[in-house]
Amino acid sequence: MKINVNGVERDLGNLDPMTPLLWVLRDELQLTGTKFGCGAGHCGACTVHLGGVAMRSCQLPVMAVQAPVTTIEGLSADGSHPVQQAWRELCVPQCGYCQSGQIMSASALLASDAQPDDAAIEAAMAGNLCRCGTYPRIRQAIQRCAGGGK
Ligand code: FES
Ligand code: FES
Repeated sequence: MKINVNGVERDLGNLDPMTPLLWVLRDELQLTGTKFGCGAGHCGACTVHLGGVAMRSCQLPVMAVQAPVTTIEGLSADGSHPVQQAWRELCVPQCGYCQSGQIMSASALLASDAQPDDAAIEAAMAGNLCRCGTYPRIRQAIQRCAGGGK
């Protein structure tokens, strides 16, 4: 079985096809930027892009991966993606654990809607939980990317 991750074709050999993508990324490919939070589709810590769409990798058997996967490691080569820049400028993270998932959801939103309004931001980010409560800064960073906000 093969999947394309961050632009590279990866051969997974005889891996159990029901293995969740999250564990393929973390354990087989050593891409540990994608985090395990709840393992049940509720927290968003494991969010990656599948064909450009934000997806919970803990809920996705690898056999169902039919489009290129992008993880936080592949969003940009050097942390220069506009969402990553805005995150740094506004010092968004606190502990950081949820933040790769937050960034992957935000970047998927902005790729599909360059100027999301508050309702669109709310809808796109509602599934990404942050126990540190960084929600106001996340919203500001997305608004900054959209050309507004502080
Ligand atoms: S670890 Fe996947 S949604 Fe929580
Ligand atoms: S920054 Fe700590 S959980 Fe979000």
